[in-house]
Amino acid sequence: MTVTIVGSQLGDEGKGGVVDLYGDAADVVVRYQGGDNAGHTVVEGGETYKLSLVPSGAVRGKIGVLGNGCVINPRTLFEEIDSLRERGLDPDIRVAERAHVILPFHRVLDSIEEDVKSEDDQEVGTTGRGIGPTYEDKAGRRGVRIGDLLEPDVLRERLEYVVPQKRALVEDVYGLDPDDLEYPNAFDVDALHEEFSEYGRRLESMAVNAGQFLTEARADGKNVMLEGAQGTLLDIDHGNYPYVTSSNPTAGGACVGSGLAPGVVGDGEVIGIVKAYLSRVGSGPMPTELGGVVGDTPGYDEQGEGEHEELATYIREAGDEYGTVTGRPRRVGWLDMPMLRHAARASGFTGLAVNHVDTLAGLEEVKVGHTYTLDGEECRTVPATTEQWERCEATFRTFDGWPEQDWGAVAEAGYEALDENARVYLEYISDELDTPIYAIGIGPGREQSIVLDEPEY
Ligand code: IMP
Repeated sequence: MTVTIVGSQLGDEGKGGVVDLYGDAADVVVRYQGGDNAGHTVVEGGETYKLSLVPSGAVRGKIGVLGNGCVINPRTLFEEIDSLRERGLDPDIRVAERAHVILPFHRVLDSIEEDVKSEDDQEVGTTGRGIGPTYEDKAGRRGVRIGDLLEPDVLRERLEYVVPQKRALVEDVYGLDPDDLEYPNAFDVDALHEEFSEYGRRLESMAVNAGQFLTEARADGKNVMLEGAQGTLLDIDHGNYPYVTSSNPTAGGACVGSGLAPGVVGDGEVIGIVKAYLSRVGSGPMPTELGGVVGDTPGYDEQGEGEHEELATYIREAGDEYGTVTGRPRRVGWLDMPMLRHAARASGFTGLAVNHVDTLAGLEEVKVGHTYTLDGEECRTVPATTEQWERCEATFRTFDGWPEQDWGAVAEAGYEALDENARVYLEYISDELDTPIYAIGIGPGREQSIVLDEPEY
């Protein structure tokens, strides 16, 4: 069986740590969507690794596969591989020949479009990594794939088709000069060909037919873990469009984006990663939001605005809620149960890992958005349109807070050593989602976890 790791909220739930925690039994760890927009932090042996493209399992000596559903910026890939090598690791990375390549003009177009949208306050708040424009070209059948980089003639053909279109877009639609933008040579076929065919040479030994590679690995008895990036509400289909990324972090994406059959992924475990509260980078509704980084918190005005801010700042600092990729302060809110119900349905979680339980320690009380009220009606899950979601007001449940504990000792002693109030909170989550909790994160390191169960391979 396979084990698939899916973010149940808005990304940054601590997926990398869970992949690392359960990584021992895995031989191969696969990323199935996204690109270098994903930031994952892995703490191993006192060392902190901040990665954006390399699968986090690679830190533990697993084979890391970037599946066909990923979009790959070779510059980032090789920077990360080289920096891991400098730190004494020798990551074994395979890259799907069918994965699409992020070219420099994709980044340029990402930032131009965000600028244009921001004139009407419509920006998505992307990471600026060119993710959306690359998936657009994939769907538009004008993309460049990893396999094309290995064949210089094919690469030239692809570039000669697509680059003039992008030049025209920049000049005629946006009224800008493509040769006078922040990225030198982003729209120059010869320069792109030279740089990217060189990446092709380096990629030759790493490129694989991902579905076939993974199927053979499984036939050889190897355990495969599939690692989603971002989270359910950033899914292009199941998230809050248009404030989403351009791929499918939900479990369905794991088959399409890896080449393993739906029956294979569906037969395995799907672990939903939950942060004990909520954070968000970028725009979009957040009915349980605390504080006013962006917008107000509907339905939660029994406290003064100042108190919200203070609480949000407290949690942001305690949880180090700053973007791994961009450094942006994240918006912070209480746990949102309608969101988790939506995520559990979309991906079919067989187990949960709840992280950052230590971050909330010391608060007198902890709230959860239990349901929403939408136009006077109770709503138990996320509505399908963002406009409806914006109108949702959270109805909160209040839990008694739990104290700071010696988390190392708790991790060692196990679940019963966790303060009772924290256990009540966790059991509420598990009951609402009708899903067992497999692991509880009480600190950033792998050893700061309470493991209740192991997923089965
Ligand atoms: P993009 O993926 O860069 O196009 O950004 C689209 C949306 O997804 C924005 O709201 C980003 O902030 C968000 N996003 C992308 N990657 C991550 C991530 O790894 N964690 C959290 N949010 C992300």
